[in-house]
Amino acid sequence: MTSLPNPRRTDERRDPQTASGAVLRLERMLAAKGIDPDRPLPDTDQPSTALELADRRIPPRYRLAEADHPEVTTWVQQVTLACRPGPGGTPGIAQGPSLLIAGPTGSGKTHQAYGAIRSLLKAGVRLRWNKLTATELYASQRPRQGTDTEREMRELMTCSLLVLDDLGAAKASEWTEELTLRLVDHRYEHLLPTIFTTNLAPGDIKNALGDRTASRLAEMCERAILTGTDRRRLRAA
Ligand SMILES: Nc1ncnc2c1ncn2[C@@H]1O[C@H](COP(=O)(O)OP(=O)(O)OP(=O)(O)O)[C@@H](O)[C@H]1O
Ligand SMILES: [Mg+2]
Repeated sequence: MTSLPNPRRTDERRDPQTASGAVLRLERMLAAKGIDPDRPLPDTDQPSTALELADRRIPPRYRLAEADHPEVTTWVQQVTLACRPGPGGTPGIAQGPSLLIAGPTGSGKTHQAYGAIRSLLKAGVRLRWNKLTATELYASQRPRQGTDTEREMRELMTCSLLVLDDLGAAKASEWTEELTLRLVDHRYEHLLPTIFTTNLAPGDIKNALGDRTASRLAEMCERAILTGTDRRRLRAA
């Protein structure tokens, strides 16, 4: 294979005097402007890893969250093992189990969910993730001028990891039931890992979300049941 000539090396061969003269002239111009070419570049404050990028999207309260619940760490391992190499060889989430984190108010469900995202990123898994509460989902799907709600819904249906927080906490209606079923059904059919959190007791899920959504959740989800008192009040006491 023939390689293209390196213009700098060609110049130097042709006329070393001119090449070093050009460097000297450039250095003088920079000096005149007060620029030292040997000075190290300043910190650009640019994120360099997927974890740093994710940290910027994670609310400050959960930015250092660690998934330490055994069922959550097991799920992280299962999803990591199910990854497939993508472009450049980096493992990416393909298909895998979903996870239902249930427990009372303040028991640490959202903390575990963000912790799981951080664990996957720390393990070098490539993922396109979204996190929103069920209330935010319904608000985002209310028809509004200038917003393509269908496009937003498609992103939530197809992203490689979705966290749907506080499932069953919003006031239910036929419309919310249909929306939840559409989203859950797509991710169920395509085996797309999803983390759901809920304050509902297992026996109440069917009543709150409808039988068809409850049935899919039962099949697609591993379970992590959190117990204990409200950590927020513990801290305040
Ligand atoms: N394992 C943990 N280690 C340290 N702090 C934690 C842990 N789990 C939760 N917390 C802290 O406890 C508080 C409550 O946690 P979190 O918001 O995750 O609860 P929740 O179960 O999602 O509550 P809710 O049902 O109201 O949504 C937060 O301040 C969180 O940072
Ligand atoms: Mg929460």
